[in-house]
Amino acid sequence: MKIQFLGHSCFLLEDSNVKILIDPFLTGNSLATTTADNVVADYIFVTHGHGDHIGDTISIAKRTDATVYAVVEIADEILAPEDIKTGRGNIGGKQKTDFGSVKYFPASHGSGVNGALACGYVLEVGGKKIYHAGDTGLIAEMQFLKDEKIDIAMLPIGDFYTMGPEDAVKAAGLISPKCVIPMHYNTFPVIKQNPEDFKNAVEDAGICDVRILSPGESLII
Ligand code: NI
Ligand code: MN
Repeated sequence: MKIQFLGHSCFLLEDSNVKILIDPFLTGNSLATTTADNVVADYIFVTHGHGDHIGDTISIAKRTDATVYAVVEIADEILAPEDIKTGRGNIGGKQKTDFGSVKYFPASHGSGVNGALACGYVLEVGGKKIYHAGDTGLIAEMQFLKDEKIDIAMLPIGDFYTMGPEDAVKAAGLISPKCVIPMHYNTFPVIKQNPEDFKNAVEDAGICDVRILSPGESLII
């Protein structure tokens, strides 16, 4: 399976069967290396309604006919009125999908939509388990992910709006994945971080590998 980082919190997961896009914020992202007109997707996962996460979801879904997963309020109030196919769910719920499964995981963050909760996702795809944390602070619930045996955890390290590097090291320790990919840093001045410092802290603590991806860069797992 190929994991491509498209900048900020946006990833494209791709194997021979499926293309999954998460938090497609491309328009207005000066670090993005592709555009909303070019990106492909069978499924889109939206962690919450802030503009740097829901981003180009509506235009990409309309062009590609992708099914968009979000919590029920975002699916019903933002996506369904645009005649987009939606997958609906809520925190703690696991659903079987054509490609594997999705579990809505807690995140501690605003959602940008009245009554909605921000979330992260645990995806089973291509025989791998991927956790995308969305925007969140460090939360104790992350300890429960240890039992999920996560292959790749995408964690925000930007600070200011989410966990910073120090708390993200603690999150990595709670989750104990095979590998962490840092995200949600350097897109804006207030979330400027050196990801090498985070990588060194996680790896020096013996927690797991950290793979830093530049926007556009891919990892094969
Ligand atoms: Ni946010
Ligand atoms: Mn954000």
